[in-house]
Amino acid sequence: MAAKTIRRIGILTSGGDAPGMNAAVRAATRTAISMGAEVIGIFEGYKGLIEGELKLFNERDVSNIISKGGTILYSARCDEFKTDEGMQKAVATCKKNKIDCIVAIGGDGTFRGAADLTRLGIRAVGIPATIDNDITATEYSIGFDTAMNTVVEWVDRLRDTCESHGRCNVVEVMGRNAGHIALECGIATGALAIAISEHPFDADDCIRRIINDRSRGKRNFIVMVSEGMGSDFSENLTKRIERDTFVETKFSRLAHVQRGGSPTLRDRYIASRMGTRAIELLYEGKKNLVICMQNNRMTEVDIQQAITIDRLYKNKITQEELDKLSEKTRKSMEEAAKKKREYIEYLYHVAETISF
Ligand code: F6P
Repeated sequence: MAAKTIRRIGILTSGGDAPGMNAAVRAATRTAISMGAEVIGIFEGYKGLIEGELKLFNERDVSNIISKGGTILYSARCDEFKTDEGMQKAVATCKKNKIDCIVAIGGDGTFRGAADLTRLGIRAVGIPATIDNDITATEYSIGFDTAMNTVVEWVDRLRDTCESHGRCNVVEVMGRNAGHIALECGIATGALAIAISEHPFDADDCIRRIINDRSRGKRNFIVMVSEGMGSDFSENLTKRIERDTFVETKFSRLAHVQRGGSPTLRDRYIASRMGTRAIELLYEGKKNLVICMQNNRMTEVDIQQAITIDRLYKNKITQEELDKLSEKTRKSMEEAAKKKREYIEYLYHVAETISF
């Protein structure tokens, strides 16, 4: 589709909200308007697209949102969109409202929706936004930096009170399928031990080190746990540490506090650049792309490829999906997944080396 035929661009945010989503909405809206398109804000993600929850945006509709947490477009997880009927309703909304293109801001589920829309004739571009930073095709997703800064601030506070009382605190942070928040924040807060699903956790060693360090005068102990370790892991570990070390041990689950708050400079900056780039790509006639950070540079990856490498990295890929890939693509995806695993191992090693 030639650039000049773009009438309206719809923008939506979907999945778990992430600080910086608003900066992306603002940048995409203003860039689209400056290039001559009309912008439709779609409320509550794909649910809003199905139900026609739309608003024609002007440049002032996105004023004063760059510093706001959450998403002014709201978000929802939508099962109906995964059905053929739901998809058809969404496409009908686009056609009825002259929406030629969609900018979809969110995580892997959001990109699957964007790929489906493109298949049905609505050109879509994805922007990665999830505090978990677990989209394999990109080194960075909007919201990660803000969430980590929140964790660091709260853990520093916990450490203060642990020091006063000579306590241990087990802190559980978000990351349903990925331990990036726990790992990087564990390093940044000087955690004694880190439990993530990507690396075996040695509870006995953690306990031995607390006993040993306590005997040498250490008063505060932070143990960082990723949500991906499972529902009762943190509470059980807390009880076990207290029982086996005789160090009073508290448990804190930071939960959704990590998802809120004013975005950091990094999130505002990357979101603004990605928002603008998404519109530029649509005006270049492109579709079916996700904007990614690779080797610290902004680039684009085919959505299907981004979804496939994500599934491969997370060991969710089926033989049928693998068979569709050329030998060369499969090898390069496996190599990228291996590199990512090695990087996580290296960071874990760094954390262990400096944690005593
Ligand atoms: O995907 C981001 C995330 O915050 C995960 O870390 C967490 O497991 C999940 O969303 C929580 O989802 P909800 O807000 O639906 O409870």
